[in-house]
Amino acid sequence: MITIMNKPVNIEPASGKLGILTPGIGAVSSTFIAGVIAARKGLAAPIGSVSQMAHIRLGAKEEDRNPLIKEFVPLAELDDLVFGGWDPISSNALEAARTCGVLEEKDLAPLSAELEGIVPMDAVFDNRWVKKLDGVRIKNISSKWEQAEALIADIENFRSENECDRLVMVWCGSTEAFQEAGEVHSTVESFEAGLRANDENISPSQIYAYAALMSDVPFANGAPNLSVDLPCMIELAKTRGVPIVGKDFKTGQTLMKTLLAPGLKARMLGLNGWYSTNILGNRDGEVLDDPENFKTKEVSKLGVLDAILQPESYPDLYSDIHHVVRINYYPPRGDNKEGWDNIDIFGWLGYPMQIKVDFLCRDSILAAPIVLDLALFMDLAARAGQSGVQEWLSFYLKAPQSATESGPEHDLFIQQTKLKNTLREWMGEQPVTHSEAG
Ligand SMILES: NC(=O)c1ccc[n+]([C@@H]2O[C@H](COP(=O)([O-])OP(=O)(O)OC[C@H]3O[C@@H](n4cnc5c(N)ncnc54)[C@H](O)[C@@H]3O)[C@@H](O)[C@H]2O)c1
Repeated sequence: MITIMNKPVNIEPASGKLGILTPGIGAVSSTFIAGVIAARKGLAAPIGSVSQMAHIRLGAKEEDRNPLIKEFVPLAELDDLVFGGWDPISSNALEAARTCGVLEEKDLAPLSAELEGIVPMDAVFDNRWVKKLDGVRIKNISSKWEQAEALIADIENFRSENECDRLVMVWCGSTEAFQEAGEVHSTVESFEAGLRANDENISPSQIYAYAALMSDVPFANGAPNLSVDLPCMIELAKTRGVPIVGKDFKTGQTLMKTLLAPGLKARMLGLNGWYSTNILGNRDGEVLDDPENFKTKEVSKLGVLDAILQPESYPDLYSDIHHVVRINYYPPRGDNKEGWDNIDIFGWLGYPMQIKVDFLCRDSILAAPIVLDLALFMDLAARAGQSGVQEWLSFYLKAPQSATESGPEHDLFIQQTKLKNTLREWMGEQPVTHSEAG
């Protein structure tokens, strides 16, 4: 079979250094940075990172073209990454890694000098949004407009001090309290007026997102709170020509849910209920112990099943699902979360069956490669001249942002196809359809 090539998109080369800035240098961020440094030193493979480890089939099967993604598209090299960020508590990335206890001392030892050198900048932090934390390393500025200006100055200083050619920002900060989007979020103009008026509906993560976009820095949100999924930010990303991606890293229990639910649906098995409960004992768990912060997470987690199962198209199978999600803060467990799922399904003649999942996972171990991939792929998108919502990166997120009215895609396998086909198209290759012909 002859492969017909598409016209490739012009992608600028990944020359020079890429700075990755994370508001929040806690468990996820420090585990991510440590893992990249370990990979650079040849101490560990970047397991879980699709950008580093996955192959991509090109053309018809018999052509036998199957390069690594990182050899197919021009991604920044791990050696060219520089790390920085902000945190109201952590004094450096080594201290953050030791506090959260994800990585063992023997794994941190060979990386300790580099991690210790990553010192967070003072944060824009407001206890109103994260009641369980007391920030100490915070900017002593009360005006939100001036806070945004200070972050923009931080970004420029980081860029010049580290001689970065490009920057990306990934929010790895705590989950902020639940809020609905308001009038202040409707346009860039109203948001800027809100910054000047210290509008109480503007949260710190939104000020970081604004500062990033005003600095032409792509922004991804790893937490479920509102930040770039606001009309004002979507407008700003488009007018400045900057990629954005939201939100909430898809790890742990929701990853399992988006693996299992498409399988049940593919075989037309019905679902009565899905009860999910977790215990975790890290700082994230402590923040989520506050009902307002948990509500933000709950909304993000609950949306997944309906979007995958489409009850409106399959009323016999999915119109009456009892979906419950609980998170319980339990300090002895630290970052090593345990997630239980009880899934009540039914089959032929309506006969009931049950599935039990007990996932003893490590949250930050699952999230770290997502930070790396989002950073590298957002940088690629920027160099490919893309802007606004990058739906092809939904693969990594629990509550993916949709670029159109059609709504988000949650099925991990459709998301994976979309990611790989987008890369194929950008590089002038045909999408792979997996049909009998292709
Ligand atoms: N680990 C996972 O699997 C996973 C999955 C999905 C989402 N998330 C989200 O990712 C985020 C990070 O998770 P984590 O486990 O690293 O949490 P963590 O509590 O260890 O780290 C978060 C850090 O953010 C800092 N922070 C809080 N407000 C800030 C602000 N305004 N500016 C800068 N820093 C701020 C905190 O001091 C803390 O050090 C959380 O919002 C979490 O809900 C994590």
